[in-house]
Amino acid sequence: MVSVGTLCRKATADDVDTLYKLIQGYAEQGIMLPRSREALLRMIDTFVVAEQGGTVIGCGSLCKLGQDLVEIRSLGITDGYKGQGIGGKLVDFLIEEARAQGIPKVMALTYEVAFFVKSGFTVVDKEIFPEKVWTDCVHCKKRDCCDEIAVLKMLN
Ligand SMILES: CC(C)(COP(=O)(O)OP(=O)(O)OC[C@H]1O[C@@H](n2cnc3c(N)ncnc32)[C@H](O)[C@@H]1OP(=O)(O)O)[C@@H](O)C(=O)NCCC(=O)NCCS
Repeated sequence: MVSVGTLCRKATADDVDTLYKLIQGYAEQGIMLPRSREALLRMIDTFVVAEQGGTVIGCGSLCKLGQDLVEIRSLGITDGYKGQGIGGKLVDFLIEEARAQGIPKVMALTYEVAFFVKSGFTVVDKEIFPEKVWTDCVHCKKRDCCDEIAVLKMLN
């Protein structure tokens, strides 16, 4: 479905509260790492949002893991707006952002494999991403029993 009327843009400091609530909701369900408002403000340049009529209804971020690799993190759509193509649009926007930064590989750790495959990602072995293990994963409750699937897209 085409998400008519949805705008994707870089996040600003004014979005911090909305981002916090959106991410916290998913963090409480165990499908996203929580982010404090302070952390969100610190990393706001890495975030993008989707909005409709001035209301933010989705977000995602791009975390640099190395010279040639970025990870899509904190990707979430507000309940009631899913299944309208907005997640796909945000992923495309993040991919263009990676391309603009000259980074050739985009990965994600996810439970939503089918969604990422639709956006051109393929499933890969987690072990090929050593940088990831030493950043966010050390703070994750599931670090010793991670059941997320790694997906990768090579940009050309
Ligand atoms: C995963 C998520 C971001 C998808 O966003 P969305 O806006 O609902 O997805 P879209 O409508 O853009 O879907 C794009 C395509 O993926 C497919 N898709 C989406 N979710 C899917 C799922 N769970 N299983 C199978 N296919 C799925 C859609 O059918 C669509 O296919 P089409 O292009 O053939 O119509 C959203 O469901 C969400 O916020 N989930 C909770 C948080 C989460 O799990 N985030 C991922 C963290 S990495």
